[in-house]
Amino acid sequence: TWAPNMKANKAAWEILSKGGYSLDAVEAGVMIPEADPNDVSVGYGGYPDRDGKVTLDSCIMNEKGQCGAVMAIEHIMHPIKVARLVMEKTPHVQLVGEGALQFALTEGFKKENLLTPESEKAWKEWLKTSKYDPMTIPKILEKTNQQEPYPWPVAALNHDTIGMIAMDVNGNISGACTTSGMAFKMRGRVGDSPIIGAGLFVDNEIGAASATGVGEEVVK
Ligand code: GLY
Repeated sequence: TWAPNMKANKAAWEILSKGGYSLDAVEAGVMIPEADPNDVSVGYGGYPDRDGKVTLDSCIMNEKGQCGAVMAIEHIMHPIKVARLVMEKTPHVQLVGEGALQFALTEGFKKENLLTPESEKAWKEWLKTSKYDPMTIPKILEKTNQQEPYPWPVAALNHDTIGMIAMDVNGNISGACTTSGMAFKMRGRVGDSPIIGAGLFVDNEIGAASATGVGEEVVK
């Protein structure tokens, strides 16, 4: 949707254009904003919850209807990779919180600090009012100047997410969706993004969709 995520499209296209698998393409694509400290609504640099913890939600789905998700996972730069491993290596679809982190660590992921100084600053600014009003967040962003260098509408920044869908040369569709969720959310809050059927759904015969926006509204 936004200009900065053209880099994500490019990473996915590198794989698709060489005849690669759509699942590999969407995973590689969404890993770009997950690692981008300037993207305040996905992965590293994502705004924390009201307690100052960065918690991430991701899911992935392939053409066979196989899917995996992690919710409220902390300290992991690429939750989409963990979601894929939930799908491929466990008998489950969803792992949450501490259990998701434990699984990631046993799979060799590194524990990292995902709270950047800029996001911490914005959180401290929010703490002054602690208001759950999505419209106060753009004002905080204006104060902390975090909309730079992105030319996107500042009002979109408090709940943006990346959802990516791809079809490969074999006609197979996969999708991935990943976010740090609503800025300064209540601890434990999970939105639509990691929920198969809310943030993402893939049907290889009909098509696929991914959502972004206020997760509570999307789920409803
Ligand atoms: N759509 C992202 C969220 O509300 O968490």
